[in-house]
Amino acid sequence: MRILITGGSGFLGSHLADRLLSLGHQVCVIDNYSTGRRDNLIPHPALQVVEGSIADGDLLEQTFNRFKPERVVHAAASYKDPNNWAEDALTNVLGTALVVKAAEKVGVSRLVYFQTSLCYGLHPSEQPITLAHPIRPEGSSYAITKTAAEQFLGLSRLEFLSFRLANAYGPRNISGPLPTFYQRLSNSQKCFCMNTRRDFIYVQDLVDVVVKALQGMGDPGYYHISSGRDFSIKELFDATAAAMNITLETPVEVRERNPDDVYSILLDPTKTEQVFDWKISTALEAGVRTTVEYYQQFGISQTYTHLHIPKD
Ligand SMILES: NC(=O)c1ccc[n+]([C@@H]2O[C@H](COP(=O)([O-])OP(=O)(O)OC[C@H]3O[C@@H](n4cnc5c(N)ncnc54)[C@H](O)[C@@H]3O)[C@@H](O)[C@H]2O)c1
Repeated sequence: MRILITGGSGFLGSHLADRLLSLGHQVCVIDNYSTGRRDNLIPHPALQVVEGSIADGDLLEQTFNRFKPERVVHAAASYKDPNNWAEDALTNVLGTALVVKAAEKVGVSRLVYFQTSLCYGLHPSEQPITLAHPIRPEGSSYAITKTAAEQFLGLSRLEFLSFRLANAYGPRNISGPLPTFYQRLSNSQKCFCMNTRRDFIYVQDLVDVVVKALQGMGDPGYYHISSGRDFSIKELFDATAAAMNITLETPVEVRERNPDDVYSILLDPTKTEQVFDWKISTALEAGVRTTVEYYQQFGISQTYTHLHIPKD
């Protein structure tokens, strides 16, 4: 198949590209490298890379007309500056609207979208959160714009699957707590953990589901990709320190959460497990070890977060 991946030089998009290329598909990536890395993608005869923004309608139209994708994975998103609402709106809302229209025009038969679990708001009313939970993305520009994008998909004629994701981690992941812990521990800087809990999903487990969806499995609609278990951020920190063979003299500081942070995000993966005959297969400790090995080999030039987090 011909599969176009927006944001394909980023963390999730590049792992998907690798897997799809290894399965014999043709892949076209469009990315503006705002958070993606050029070296995330290894040159391959069946891989085309277009540098540019999904908010550029002309570029999108040319790319879709030339490549004629059968499937689209829409992974491009803006989130790196929580105060840059204009960039979030431009990429996440306008960019998605343009991707949807371009996909409709060339007859894309299925589109996969990645939604943030922050669409359920800062105070989810159930744990685990089910797909029936009300949508209230009021907590951040990222959540608001990603949710508007998901709603535009709902308005479209496209066949789409929106995967609402737990915290994905793995090699090439440069947002969230794990890369930050790695960087600070590497530089012997003091670390702290927020008093929050998250459901972590290893990138290859996530890719397993998405590939099944691209192959046509599962009805269109909304799904969770999650482990179904939440860990404290301190447990993640401890796994990171252990993978780096670091023993701290005193336990890491655990801080009260910021008002824009959710205490626990635990997504109910039941529908996804049933429909895709899937379950996570990577334990947190093993996934963290592989991720740390990647950071040790390739380094981290920068980390990003959509949250307002104190610097030290
Ligand atoms: N990683 C997670 O835990 C997680 C959780 C929920 C949802 N998501 C969603 O999954 C998708 C992939 O996230 P990721 O973790 O791989 O992040 P990422 O930052 O590694 O990937 C996003 C990619 O989009 C590119 N991009 C940004 N703006 C663009 C634009 N205007 N035009 C073209 N490319 C642009 C970036 O350069 C980057 O390569 C995003 O849509 C994100 O909202 C991720």
